[in-house]
Amino acid sequence: MSNHTLSKYHEQQLLDLFINTFETDPQVLTPIIQGVKAALYDRDYPTAFGTLQNLEAYVARWTPSRALSYAHLFSNLVESALYAPNSSNFDNDKTKRILSIGGGAGAEIVGFGALALLNHRGNRDCKLHVTAVDVAEWDPVVAKIANYMNQNWTDNSNDASMSLDEQLANLSLIDTDEIKVDFINHDILTLPRDRLDFSKLDLITSMFTTNELFTASRVGTVNFLKSLVECRKGTLLLFVESAGSYSEVMVGTKKFPVHFLIKHVLTHNNTWELLSSADSKWYRLPPGLSYPMQLENMRYFYRLYIRT
Ligand SMILES: C[S@@+](CC[C@H](N)C(=O)[O-])C[C@H]1O[C@@H](n2cnc3c(N)ncnc32)[C@H](O)[C@@H]1O
Repeated sequence: MSNHTLSKYHEQQLLDLFINTFETDPQVLTPIIQGVKAALYDRDYPTAFGTLQNLEAYVARWTPSRALSYAHLFSNLVESALYAPNSSNFDNDKTKRILSIGGGAGAEIVGFGALALLNHRGNRDCKLHVTAVDVAEWDPVVAKIANYMNQNWTDNSNDASMSLDEQLANLSLIDTDEIKVDFINHDILTLPRDRLDFSKLDLITSMFTTNELFTASRVGTVNFLKSLVECRKGTLLLFVESAGSYSEVMVGTKKFPVHFLIKHVLTHNNTWELLSSADSKWYRLPPGLSYPMQLENMRYFYRLYIRT
């Protein structure tokens, strides 16, 4: 098995993280999720995300499918660029620093958790430091996810009375400091630069968030994307959005695909180069995974840029 292939065992570990951390009983969750859905439909975000109960119900319902999909995307697409010999990390401190814009609901964090699992399995001497910045108050959710990975995935307390199967199941999945997670509750478009050193980042992700940024403030988003020029050579920048018409932004009276706007801003003075892209990709869930709520396949487009 190659290092970047997540095993079924690992995929189930990702789902178990949600099962063991959040309420996932459909009977309890269904009425809460209906309320969240209705509020999201009305774009009433304060109601949708106004209570911890709603936040956790949102995570239990929608984050696991995304987390699996991102685990797959990160391990297949991002990993090789992140660990390329000429990658941005020339200070060689073996830590890859990642910013996840709009990553508060945890899918990217768990997706990077999967990379940590693969690093560990491949004996790669490398750490991940993920900072999620999100305008919504996901602090308690991020804390629960990070604690779970750092406690349950590092537990290798085998005792001699265990069967071989039990001992194998209890082998530590990562080392204690193999992944570190921080959360900053802030609008990324107005984040003071002293809160995060962009020049040290190896990777920035914006997953299903860029559209929201453009919708909230086109000028602010253009300025933010331009400001990423301060990233160092080799920094990776990954955009993922819904394939199709969801990912169109109005400019004046015309609609433009969001990837067109991104390209326009990033490449006009040759500071970013497109490394890889696809207009329509499917992530299809593998059979045989167990989760109490519905899991979904995902269709998306992506653009992966590198700072030149
Ligand atoms: C559609 S959700 C996507 C969540 C997650 N990235 C994923 O792919 O599953 C968009 C996220 O972006 C966050 N968001 C929207 N505008 C933002 C802004 N200006 N700054 C930071 N986060 C923002 C929202 O709070 C929400 O968590």
